[in-house]
Amino acid sequence: MKNKNKTVWGSRFNNAPSKIFEQIGASIEIDKRLFEEDILGSIAHTQMLIKQKIISKNKGNKILLGLKKIRKEIIKNNFDFKKKYEDIHLNIEKRLFKIIGNDAGYLHIARSRNDQVITDFKLWIKKASKEINSNLNNLIKNFLKKSADNVNTIMPGFTHLKNAQPISFAHYLLAYVEMFKRDRKRFSSNIDYIDECPLGVGALAGTSYKIDRNFTSKKLGFKKPTNNSIDTVSDRDFALDFLSSASICAMHISRFAEELIIWNSDIFKLIKLSDKMLTGSSIMPQKKNPDPAELIRGRAGKNFGSLQAMLTTMKGLPLSYYKDMQEDKALVFSSYDTLSESLIITNELIKNLKPNKERMLQLANEGYTTATDFADYLVKNNNLSFREAYKISAKLVNYAERRNKKLNELSFDEVKKVKKDLNKKVMKVFDVKNSVNSKSSYGGTATKNIKRMISRLKKEFK
Ligand code: ARG
Repeated sequence: MKNKNKTVWGSRFNNAPSKIFEQIGASIEIDKRLFEEDILGSIAHTQMLIKQKIISKNKGNKILLGLKKIRKEIIKNNFDFKKKYEDIHLNIEKRLFKIIGNDAGYLHIARSRNDQVITDFKLWIKKASKEINSNLNNLIKNFLKKSADNVNTIMPGFTHLKNAQPISFAHYLLAYVEMFKRDRKRFSSNIDYIDECPLGVGALAGTSYKIDRNFTSKKLGFKKPTNNSIDTVSDRDFALDFLSSASICAMHISRFAEELIIWNSDIFKLIKLSDKMLTGSSIMPQKKNPDPAELIRGRAGKNFGSLQAMLTTMKGLPLSYYKDMQEDKALVFSSYDTLSESLIITNELIKNLKPNKERMLQLANEGYTTATDFADYLVKNNNLSFREAYKISAKLVNYAERRNKKLNELSFDEVKKVKKDLNKKVMKVFDVKNSVNSKSSYGGTATKNIKRMISRLKKEFK
């Protein structure tokens, strides 16, 4: 009886896999994105096999030529990815057989798809992390540009979405720069963990061939080979690190998006977005909606979902390899795609946003935002404790509220109603510009601080 099973393991099987499992079990539609890394890994592995005299030069060189041909075919879209060959590793191996014949069978000596797939995946995540960091770099530069233009733009800073204290719009933007810097650090330090080469641990136990793992590790740009073969094929921490960093970064930009949505609203009117960043309504002719910002906010959910799914997949999974883990690629790719797009949109948003400076200033004066400055004045000039000063300032706020006045609209005589022995100089504390500039402690919103910070950051992010 002729065996109809064409899989690489067909010789042990009486039947071909059921069609339905072929549909579900095949990952080729997703992991074909690893082709470049898979071929790089196979090339390094082959070179090592030749160097160690595990395969002959002649056979090895045939394999190398075949692999390079396959790479070209895939790049030129001339490669027929087949579901029946399951994944990228077996699709490439099967094609190698077609191109060079039975010598292709020597390629898989001393390796398993278990070490192969993580090698590919680690290489891919390294590349992806670097790309995200370069997007973050662009974003930081554009935030710095906008900050430099807005050092003197005063707006209300919020806590609880209530006007709190006056701040510079630039200082607010620089807060995001700090978040993006931490995001970059997270992606960079992930690379440190990724930097151990899995190739050569085989299915889970290592191999009896005299391989040189340092050679392949170096060839592929890793720092060193992994230490424990079982951990190596079981480990997906590096995927989780990526997903977690992507989630935190997505969370940051979703907060920015949310603020733009609020500030762009007809109630706040703190910023204006260019038409490029708005869409209309099919029924309400007057509408201009901040859809791109809403998409960034919404899509963060996809990043979080991928992280949650991956954690759940790994939770309680015994060592070492299980097919469950095959789901890792779809999650990481989707998270990467989502985040990359969101970062690009965020970049467009910051470039196409104008602060409404008059409105910002007007709102900075609303909500008694200089009440703390008044209390601080009393501490410094009238020898009061902060709690005593707080009470007096609260009285003034109550007074202003009853008269329906802003603090900067009160006369000196009115201010004196809450504290008799005041010097006229006190009136300057109700000026929001003065308030901003008085916050000169390190990290505060004072203009001179911001200028110094911008020039320092501009040097860092050229
Ligand atoms: N496509 C598989 C994956 O991504 C490759 C590893 C297969 N290993 C195995 N023992 N079935 O997980």
